Amino acid sequence: MNINWNTELYCLIGDPIEKSLSPEIHNYIFNINNMNCNYMCFNVEDNNLKQVLDTFKILGIKGFNVTIPHKIHIMKYLDDIDEEAKLLGAVNTVKYVNGKLMGYNTDGAGFVKSLVDSGISIKGKKILILGAGGGSHAVSVKLAQSGVKKIIILNRTIEKSKQLAYNISNKFKNIAVEYDDLKSFSKYTDVDIVVNCTSIGMYPDTDEVPIDISIFSNKTVVCDIIYKPIKTKFLKNAEKKNMKIIGGMDMLINQAILSQKIWFSVDKNIAINIDEIKGFLHYSVE
Ligand code: ATR
Repeated sequence: MNINWNTELYCLIGDPIEKSLSPEIHNYIFNINNMNCNYMCFNVEDNNLKQVLDTFKILGIKGFNVTIPHKIHIMKYLDDIDEEAKLLGAVNTVKYVNGKLMGYNTDGAGFVKSLVDSGISIKGKKILILGAGGGSHAVSVKLAQSGVKKIIILNRTIEKSKQLAYNISNKFKNIAVEYDDLKSFSKYTDVDIVVNCTSIGMYPDTDEVPIDISIFSNKTVVCDIIYKPIKTKFLKNAEKKNMKIIGGMDMLINQAILSQKIWFSVDKNIAINIDEIKGFLHYSVE
């Protein structure tokens, strides 16, 4: 890495930011494209958020990512928010342009891109979403926007699945939306795609699964937004049944690529080899 006076700084702000893979992904893309940029992580506590954003403006930091716990309340400090981020109700990418901080969200689009890149069509499909937290919100709203036929949201806390289902059916009148308790999963076998958006199966609890995969036919596509481990037990069980699987690492890398497209404009030709990124991230995750 060759840092000089002209190096542009990009970064992640969150709390905690330990073990984030974003620096490795972004710096890899900067390096292979000979971009004079560097990406770092800053642990920012909630009560310092406004001050940090003011400082970024003064320093002319051109772009940054936002993670837990700031994705929602950063919105009140931004000068403008793009329509998709408004729809998702959260921001994960900020661009500083013409003296203004603009908020975007690439989480849902990163997930949908993983499906599209794997040759899975979304239009008219029935989707079962497990979980109703931040990740579930981004994934389900983006799927609704991408023209699915039906979304069923299951969550341990039924009030949260009800709220998310209500938000989606309010905004997307032509999509059938249902919600239920996660425990009732065996009622919902007739679906095309299942997405685990709960944290069940995440390191260190890698022996856990959110639901029993054997209730679905092997035509059902099984996705997990967890990327640590790279292949959750849920995905391993699906693979044993010869089902198509997509892991959370694809979504993670795609949301980062989409952030770079926002910072550097969509037309900039950025060379990316996703398999190479997955290859070296493997060592950081496992
Ligand atoms: P994220 O932003 O990653 O989505 P989150 O907002 O904390 O994280 O959401 C975590 C999701 O995993 C929630 O749907 C949560 O269910 P609750 O809303 O009932 O808390 C779900 N989850 C986490 N641990 C769980 C467990 N042991 N059993 C069932 N669901 C669980």
